[in-house]
Amino acid sequence: MAPTRKLFVKTYGCQMNVYDSERMAETLGAQGYVQTDRADEADMILLNTCHIREKAAEKVYSELGRMKPLKMAKPDLRIAVAGCVAQAEGEEILRRQPIVDLVVGPQSYHRLAEMEARVARGGTAVDTDFPAEDKFDHLVARPRALRGPTAFLTVQEGCDKFCAFCVVPYTRGAEVSRPAAKVLAEARDLVDRGVREITLLGQNVNAYHGVGEDGADWTLARLIRALAGIDGLLRIRYTTSHPNDMSDDLIAAHGEVEKLMPYLHLPVQSGSDRVLKAMNRKHGAEAYRRLVDRIRAARPDLLLSGDFIVGFPGETEADFQATLDLVEAVGYGQAYTFKYSERPGTPAAERAQVPEDAKDDRLRRLQALITRQQRAAQDAMVGREVGVLFEKAGRMPGQMVGKSDHLHAVHVAAPGIAQGDLRRVRIVESGPNSLGGDLAAG
Ligand code: SAH
Ligand code: SF4
Ligand code: F3S
Repeated sequence: MAPTRKLFVKTYGCQMNVYDSERMAETLGAQGYVQTDRADEADMILLNTCHIREKAAEKVYSELGRMKPLKMAKPDLRIAVAGCVAQAEGEEILRRQPIVDLVVGPQSYHRLAEMEARVARGGTAVDTDFPAEDKFDHLVARPRALRGPTAFLTVQEGCDKFCAFCVVPYTRGAEVSRPAAKVLAEARDLVDRGVREITLLGQNVNAYHGVGEDGADWTLARLIRALAGIDGLLRIRYTTSHPNDMSDDLIAAHGEVEKLMPYLHLPVQSGSDRVLKAMNRKHGAEAYRRLVDRIRAARPDLLLSGDFIVGFPGETEADFQATLDLVEAVGYGQAYTFKYSERPGTPAAERAQVPEDAKDDRLRRLQALITRQQRAAQDAMVGREVGVLFEKAGRMPGQMVGKSDHLHAVHVAAPGIAQGDLRRVRIVESGPNSLGGDLAAG
């Protein structure tokens, strides 16, 4: 048998990269690689990268720079760059950082083992194809190891929306949905290995339209209803959704499927119709607000999360005010705010830019509002009873920490709670980053 080699993986970007890193590590596991959390003892370093904003991409190059001494000390150390920077930059990465041996895009990572073998024979390997075959079919079966109570599961990948600021349609390619039977089989396998909560992933997960077990096209709602039938699976979430794909059956599922959690990430990006149009979002602010009302009518305790971009090219102070107004009106339990970042090759990068100090100012003001809303949503949980899925031991002796139905971190001090338990908890306090509670009676 070949000697064990060590693999160090570092993941940037979205949850899909987290999922992809797990699958790549499994594929390389079949080649004899075991994972290590120390880069300095690795035989292979794999950076799974994100290209969404300039800073994210630059981080990769500085990380590679820091790895240079490791490569000097151990010349047969393999350095691989995967993910969206790999897709966007390809060969350029080898030119800019010659310590890299292998560059693999998000749709080609089932070829990783074969590429690694090529590098072992000397030279480099680059693959940024969008192959016709399904990469998930070519990945090795998951090893049957037990795992923690929560997992991601990619059901849809790629994007056809082409928002004017975004690289994802270029790095991840066109929208593709996995067949429902494959998703269900993977979900059952995860549950057998201890998983209790699955978050379905897609760049536009609610545009899911995979072939169903009955041969018909299944929507995300149909898929969620089928997943809810799996014994032992206690919770279902999904992310990220586009407002225009929020179909009636999905909204209805929020009211009807008990395992579907009352939390929804539904980015709107801006509250100004003018900016939304320039962003190519294909809906206005009022339509978004009406949509949120309909979802909340189906599930009144839904906690809403969003993404916002400030300083998009052409955004005026009045446009920004419209974003503040929308946030005030909608009320978010959680939101992510970003300064617009120019991405080469996207339409918005060619337009007149908003000065950096205006972006900074708007970011600060929006963040202040959102922090206030987040805080209020968290504080409002005090006195309520919620479900908590326990994930790990807390910092205090005898304490366990988990996530509430609404995705708040909750700590509880009570004997006899095990990892993977879902219990009813009465919330008694709201701290800076988490809630505290007691097990509810009964
Ligand atoms: N598919 C998802 C997520 C895309 S990336 C969606 O449609 O919502 C996650 C977030 O990054 C986006 O929602 C957007 O707010 C932000 N983002 C994307 N491109 C950006 C850019 N060029 N500059 C700043 N933020 C950006
Ligand atoms: Fe990017 Fe827009 Fe597609 Fe989301 S919907 S991935 S923001 S292009
Ligand atoms: Fe980043 Fe690619 Fe995800 S650009 S956000 S890693 S899809």
